[in-house]
Formats: sequence, C-alpha cells, structure tokens
Amino acid sequence: MLSTAMQAALLKQLNHEFFSSYVYLAMAAWCEDKGVRGFGRWMRIQAQEEMAHAMIIYRYLGDRDCRVILDTIQKPEADFGSIMEVFRAALEHERQVSRSFASIAALAQDERDFATGNFVQFFIDEQVEEEASFRDLIDQLKLVGDHGHAIFMLDREFGQRQFVLPAQLQNF
Ligand code: FEO
Repeated sequence: MLSTAMQAALLKQLNHEFFSSYVYLAMAAWCEDKGVRGFGRWMRIQAQEEMAHAMIIYRYLGDRDCRVILDTIQKPEADFGSIMEVFRAALEHERQVSRSFASIAALAQDERDFATGNFVQFFIDEQVEEEASFRDLIDQLKLVGDHGHAIFMLDREFGQRQFVLPAQLQNF
C-alpha cells in the first residue's frame, strides 16, 4: 500500500503529465498555425508521449490499489515569439519535470518504498533523454538561424517523428 504522501505525490505527477501533454499540444497548435507543420507534428507526438507517461502512472496507481482522482488541468501557454522560444520553453518545462521526479524518488527512498523507487527510475532515465533531445533540437535551431531554406529542411526532418507506445502500456 502506498503512503498517503506518496499517493498525493503520484496523483500530482499524474496531473502534471496531463498538463505536459497540454503544454506540447498548445506548442503543436502554435507551430501548425505558423505553417511549420513538421515541428507541429513533432510536438503532437511529444503530447502523445506525455499522455502515455500519465497512463503509466495511472496504471501503477491502480496496481498499488490507489484510486485515481483526477484534478483540473492548468491552462498552457499558447503564444510564442519564435520556434526557438517554443523549444526553449519546452526544455525549461522538462527541467521542472525532472525536479519533480527527483523529489518523488527521494520520498520513495525516505519511506523505503522500493517498488515506487524502482517504478520512478524509468522516468528519471527518460528525463535525461528528454532534456538531451530538447538541447539537441535547440542546437540545431541555433545552427540554422533565420535561414528559411534550412528551417524548411529541418521542419521536414522533424515531421518524420513517430509515436512508439511504451512497453508498460502494451496490453493495457
Ligand atoms: Fe513526461 Fe516530458 O516528461
């Protein structure tokens, strides 16, 4: 059985993953409105990934006999000054998510809740990858600068991204 504090922390994180999905969907909508549909698709896939993260937590809560009670999802930012600004905001968002998972891991350690500690490790590893991929994308955007043709090529490349259902959600 999860402690009351752990249930609250995981329910809060579940809400935050739904919020993340909303954040990226709002970024996708901004990109698509500006005509950079490849970046938009990339962000829509990111939104799907965040929804999958939420569902991994949802599943875990059920497995640990904790009732899921959903809360209000915060309104995401909808306006950005440039594609670069979108990706910088996304990196900052991911850094915040990393801190949040680190505090859940610390709580699990304090409570000697090894199952949750093990569960949350997936997200800690995932955050390292997510932050790295956003940094890479920002570096690529820096390289192309304002060159329209290069942005067009990058947009096509970003548009190739595919969603992969995480193993934890197979048969769920
Ligand atoms: Fe679910 Fe991007 O962290």
